[in-house]
Amino acid sequence: MSATAAFLPFTKPSIDEETISAVNEVLRSGWLTSGPKVKELEAQLSAYFGGRPVRTFNSGTCTMEIALRIAGIGAGDEVITTPNSWVATANVIIEVGATPVFVDIDPKTHNIDLNKVEAAITSGTKAIIPVHMCGLPCDMDQLYAIAQKHHLRVVEDAAQAIGSTWHGQRIGAFGDFVSFSFQVNKNIMTAEGGCLVLNNEAEAKLAEKYRLQGVSRSGLDGIDVDVLGGKYNMTDLSAAIGLGQLKRLHEFNAQRKKLALHYFDQFGKDFESSTGAELPVADFTNSNWHMFHIVLPERIHRSEFMQKMLDLGIGLGYHYRPIHLFTLYRERGFTDGMFPIAERIGKQIVTLPLFPSMNESDVDRVVAAVKSCL
Ligand SMILES: Cc1ncc(COP(=O)(O)O)c(C=O)c1O
Repeated sequence: MSATAAFLPFTKPSIDEETISAVNEVLRSGWLTSGPKVKELEAQLSAYFGGRPVRTFNSGTCTMEIALRIAGIGAGDEVITTPNSWVATANVIIEVGATPVFVDIDPKTHNIDLNKVEAAITSGTKAIIPVHMCGLPCDMDQLYAIAQKHHLRVVEDAAQAIGSTWHGQRIGAFGDFVSFSFQVNKNIMTAEGGCLVLNNEAEAKLAEKYRLQGVSRSGLDGIDVDVLGGKYNMTDLSAAIGLGQLKRLHEFNAQRKKLALHYFDQFGKDFESSTGAELPVADFTNSNWHMFHIVLPERIHRSEFMQKMLDLGIGLGYHYRPIHLFTLYRERGFTDGMFPIAERIGKQIVTLPLFPSMNESDVDRVVAAVKSCL
């Protein structure tokens, strides 16, 4: 690492002074937990998603769990999902008492291979949780055609996909349940948090119950609890961050897209053929460019590569280790070799730095380092 080059992490949130002041204001107001800021954020998100009802939560994980609960999915039900995701995507299926059924991924998009989904459907299948990996949407026409044909609920894990589009419509503005994460690495964040886009007010009321111990109003002065809920509400502190972030979402995503384009330019047309590495799908229409990854060739040992990059002052991530190979899932009968594409990619993928406060010379530096380490 040269004396002047600062360490470049793979991601970093952008927080402006206005947002810091807004959080200070919440602190001074004395109302810290769910209150007016949460309501304001939900209203703005609803407007962003074309007027559909939106409720916020304290993570993207519980957001998906609550969607499954609203859909009535539980013991004895099967839910189809992808092995290539953060483990949260499958954990929520187990959490509600259902059984996760994995389907391998497409080698190019790294999303669930929708051509293989129908073969995994049984009489017990009740839902599908596709992931829009790195913000690249699944084929929404094919996804909803399958769901409709087999009467399946869909919980889109759009944790990474805020601002992504399909046929010009925002992900979340259509479809069934759509779940977003506002965890600190996402395109917009609330430190921790998430939101669920729902189909109607009845579902939204249920979401409110599940996020606060199952409590509902009963009569003028009483409450009742008739379902088992949890403690999943977002705080006004988080919502104040979210409001500041949402204002800048378009700007953030535009900068991500510009940097991703620059990555392709700098890697050049013969990068894949000369190194054996794989670049992501160059989608500049639908993707929000949440992450920019490359798949290393077999001859490269990932951890050695990551160490060499670190020595050059560049932090990388890897997304993801296949879910079915974690001990919890092996104990449920999953083994090596079941989902070979997810396994190959899970072993060789690395995530390169990409965040809005980066500039094109940072990209130049990363590309030069990747080329030298390969
Ligand atoms: C694809 C995917 N699903 C689910 C989650 C879980 O979101 P959260 O960390 O907000 O619970 C994440 C976030 O890391 C994610 O990237």
